[in-house]
Amino acid sequence: MKENSPFTPGNPAPVELFVGRVKQIEEILKYVRQTASGRQENVFLAGERGIGKSSLAAFLRHLVDRENFLAIHVFVGGVTDLEELVRRIFEQILKETNKQTWFDEISGFFGKYVKQVDLFGISVSFNPPQEDLKGLVRNFPEALKNIMEKIKNEKKGLFIVLDDINGISETPEFANWYKSFVDDVATHYTDFPAFIMPIGIPEIRDVLSEHQPSLMRIFRVVDIDKLSDKEVNEFFEKTFGKVNIEVESEAMEVMTRFSSGLPIFMHEIGDAVFWSDDDGIISEDDASSGIIDAAERIGKKYLDPKIYRAIRSEQYRSILRRLGERPINRFKKGEIESKLNEKEKKVFNNFLRKMRELGIIVSDIEGGRGSYKFVNELYPVYIGMESQNFRKRTITKNKTIEA
Ligand SMILES: Nc1ncnc2c1ncn2[C@@H]1O[C@H](COP(=O)(O)OP(=O)(O)OP(=O)(O)O)[C@@H](O)[C@H]1O
Ligand SMILES: [Mg+2]
Repeated sequence: MKENSPFTPGNPAPVELFVGRVKQIEEILKYVRQTASGRQENVFLAGERGIGKSSLAAFLRHLVDRENFLAIHVFVGGVTDLEELVRRIFEQILKETNKQTWFDEISGFFGKYVKQVDLFGISVSFNPPQEDLKGLVRNFPEALKNIMEKIKNEKKGLFIVLDDINGISETPEFANWYKSFVDDVATHYTDFPAFIMPIGIPEIRDVLSEHQPSLMRIFRVVDIDKLSDKEVNEFFEKTFGKVNIEVESEAMEVMTRFSSGLPIFMHEIGDAVFWSDDDGIISEDDASSGIIDAAERIGKKYLDPKIYRAIRSEQYRSILRRLGERPINRFKKGEIESKLNEKEKKVFNNFLRKMRELGIIVSDIEGGRGSYKFVNELYPVYIGMESQNFRKRTITKNKTIEA
């Protein structure tokens, strides 16, 4: 009987299984160290959904903690007002210091609104009335400064991650508040060792600029993108190694190729392959059958809502099935077009545009004019599966009718 899978599709990567991001880590640590000398720094961490922003932040928190900063990772997805944002920041500071001997010094500052909640283990909560929260929003620099003063014998500074500001960035208040915070700090404090890192998808930069044109100037933007094949390889080695499973090199090659550099894919593939193996050695067959399972899971999560449920047009669907007839990850427009009927041909250009808009295919520059490729290696596997299933269903249906 197998033990639990070491893969964590959907959850930030545990520190010991984290790979890559070397350049970004170096860059960010440089700014963090700069903060220790009293200069307030702001980094905007940008990346597509699921590319690994929270995982990187968690890993950085771990490193920065060892460099003796008070490091907090605040999840603010879903937060839409500044009062709640600020409440969560201070509550997280409390939680982090709760484990320390100097907690009492800090908690005094938060006054009578700190509750020790023992219901589900030892924890603290911070719930002041709305009026006081408004005050904290207004006097945010001063409040942070007071905390830093209290901890300055123990800690070099503060490291604050604001994870997922996608929601709150939609309000003009956030951009203006942040800009005032930075200006206020720059004009009133010579020593303000606080590093702040908001996280969001790349489009958020434009949203913030619209609300407050000068805001993006104060951020150092750090982008994260796909992992390299070498890093994906390292991830599989580490993770299978952790549970003493050996991976044959052909298996490693296919798992890496189909992961397409996407962290989510490598976790889904790793997990599916883990469960398809039964002798502690991953062979190419184990890998292939795992990839089929992973393609199904990923297709259901990402492609079904995007295309199969969103596209109602019967023509589009039948073109998609044509695309899936052979397992290909790139194609020429003309080749596919020659297999289409008149009705399908008419909408083929629109179909291609739609698929591009949905982020499923892109133009294939290397292939020349009229060439396209799927954005990753796994999507065509699922599209192929759907096409096969459809054929099977039609055959069974016809047989039933004949009978
Ligand atoms: N560097 C990494 N090493 C190993 N696994 C990673 C790495 N980065 C991300 N992952 C894995 O990829 C998946 C997505 O990562 P994560 O949640 O950090 O992405 P995100 O960009 O924060 O996503 P979202 O936009 O949904 O918040 C998780 O399963 C996580 O464990
Ligand atoms: Mg995240």
